Amino acid sequence: MRTVEWVDNAVRMIDQRHIPWDLRYVDLHDVEQVAAAIRDMVVRGAPAIGATAAFGMALAAHTSGASTLPPLRADLQRAGDILKASRPTAVNLQWAVDGLLHLAEHTSSGSVDELRQRLLQAAQQIADDDIAINRRMGAHGAVLIQDGDTVLHHCNTGALATVDHGTALGVIRTAFEQGKRFSVLLDETRPRLQGARLSAWELEQLGVPYHIIADGAAGYFMRRGEVNLVLVGADRIAANGDFANKIGTYQVAVLARTHDIPFYTVAPTSTIDATIPDGSFIPIEERDPAEVLAPYGCAIAPAHYKVCNPAFDVTPAEYVSGIVTEYGIVHPPLTHSIARTLAAANSTP
Ligand code: MRU
Repeated sequence: MRTVEWVDNAVRMIDQRHIPWDLRYVDLHDVEQVAAAIRDMVVRGAPAIGATAAFGMALAAHTSGASTLPPLRADLQRAGDILKASRPTAVNLQWAVDGLLHLAEHTSSGSVDELRQRLLQAAQQIADDDIAINRRMGAHGAVLIQDGDTVLHHCNTGALATVDHGTALGVIRTAFEQGKRFSVLLDETRPRLQGARLSAWELEQLGVPYHIIADGAAGYFMRRGEVNLVLVGADRIAANGDFANKIGTYQVAVLARTHDIPFYTVAPTSTIDATIPDGSFIPIEERDPAEVLAPYGCAIAPAHYKVCNPAFDVTPAEYVSGIVTEYGIVHPPLTHSIARTLAAANSTP
């Protein structure tokens, strides 16, 4: 099944908090439940929360008691505010909510039920497009992987982080489906362990050879010459190519530069936030200290110990060898090539 989908007038998703031990689904029946699922990371990963937010907006329209367009639009505005407040860093969430609000604002004719239907269709389209875009990025990015390579990957960017297929892990999947034979080092990705729990679960099923490594081991393998390529995802890319991704990405980028290893981020153009000039404008989510002190309920230090828990960091564009998008690989100088790619994207019907 897809990570998130619309089933029987509800938003159904995989509850990622139970993977790899258990594959459970949850059905959400109102926008507050959808926002809570995003905040509590039942669903996570930038494109997956974008699609979830789109279905959340469709759900808000579905559950609204409005009988004319103006109050329905007001309900959607409230729903959009609730969803946008759930997680701040991944721009895909904002992008999806704004897309559906724009549709509601610009639909001046037709009935309330017709607008509900159009919003649901738009959300379905975002979900379907996500899969198609991921496959395109997979095809573009697969050229970066050669037989015999070892690819280092951070966090989870696979089917679970998207509607299906994945971004950086999607490139790995496509290369493997093309018959290339290589292996993957998965950073465990403290504190929520998306690499050890989710990426390993996905690669197990795909049959791609992998080893989980402690986050602190990345430099060890790079220095031994055992990493040929680094692939990561992105939660928000600024106009100059600086990008936010899961905490720990920045240090991997610096290590890759030190060891002369190509470092690529893989992300759809919906992850590019052209309204911000550089990464200093990206809001960084600070999460519950309990994630560090007691991951998944397993206490490793007393609950009153002091913690800082930023969920993302920003990697400056100078460390990026390229960005794999659905329109191809974008190379430095990134300010110029990102602008060109967005212009191409906007002129594509
Ligand atoms: O906190 P998460 O698990 O939502 O963070 C996810 C990541 O940082 C991914 O690398 C990013 O969303 C890109 S994945 C398609």
